[in-house]
Amino acid sequence: MTRGFGVDIGGSGIKGGLVDLEAGALDGERLRIITPQPSTPDAVADVVAEIVEKFNWDGPVGVTLPCVVKHGIAHSAANVDQAWIGTDAAELFSQRLGRPKDQIVVLNDADAAGIAEMRFGSGVGRDGLVVLLTFGTGIGTALFQDGKLIPNTEFGHLEVDGHDAEKRAAASVKEDKGLTWAEWTPRVSRYVNVLEDLIWPDLVIAGGGVSKKAEKWLPLLEVRTEVVAAALKNDAGIVGAAVAAAQGLRH
Ligand code: BGC
Repeated sequence: MTRGFGVDIGGSGIKGGLVDLEAGALDGERLRIITPQPSTPDAVADVVAEIVEKFNWDGPVGVTLPCVVKHGIAHSAANVDQAWIGTDAAELFSQRLGRPKDQIVVLNDADAAGIAEMRFGSGVGRDGLVVLLTFGTGIGTALFQDGKLIPNTEFGHLEVDGHDAEKRAAASVKEDKGLTWAEWTPRVSRYVNVLEDLIWPDLVIAGGGVSKKAEKWLPLLEVRTEVVAAALKNDAGIVGAAVAAAQGLRH
């Protein structure tokens, strides 16, 4: 078995674990630690180091951020501390984890989840234009053309009816406003309608925590494109990060 290691940084939790790179699944338990508040780069890096050390892992590490990440540098921070903007995350984790920079790959969280879904989950064998949407605190997006990632799409911030899309249709909005599935799903339909008119995908993969309850809302969607639930559920980010690190994928 070839193993890797991934850490998925989110607004509420930081999750990491060993990954079986052939099976595309966690190898054993994952560890989740609540995201420190404020979620500054230093505070988050401490937690990442704690997780990696717990597993005694000394190979390459893939780390996701809920940010645009180019060449290891974070360029946005919609749901994490603003101090991330401009931070050389690859350098930060390399120092904090005591590893050379080429052992660290930092990438956007939705891109990581997409890599995992395309390789091991609902995107396997799907050519054409595939978009993964992660519904969580915000909306993350990952775009693939014939299996190749086009990184750092930020379609969760499309303007829909005068609003930032994720502020209307993220899973956190359902939670915060106490919306039923029947009340929340039309917001998702409206969002997907705007997106599908712009990029005409062949397949939408619906991910994030709400993908675990896909049967409650996917049938209610009114969209043109085929929509399937993500297969890897909560572990997609960790698995995708580990795959990216093993391959040395840098964007
Ligand atoms: C961020 C994206 C991120 C998504 C999911 C959005 O607010 O802008 O970079 O992928 O949330 O965490």
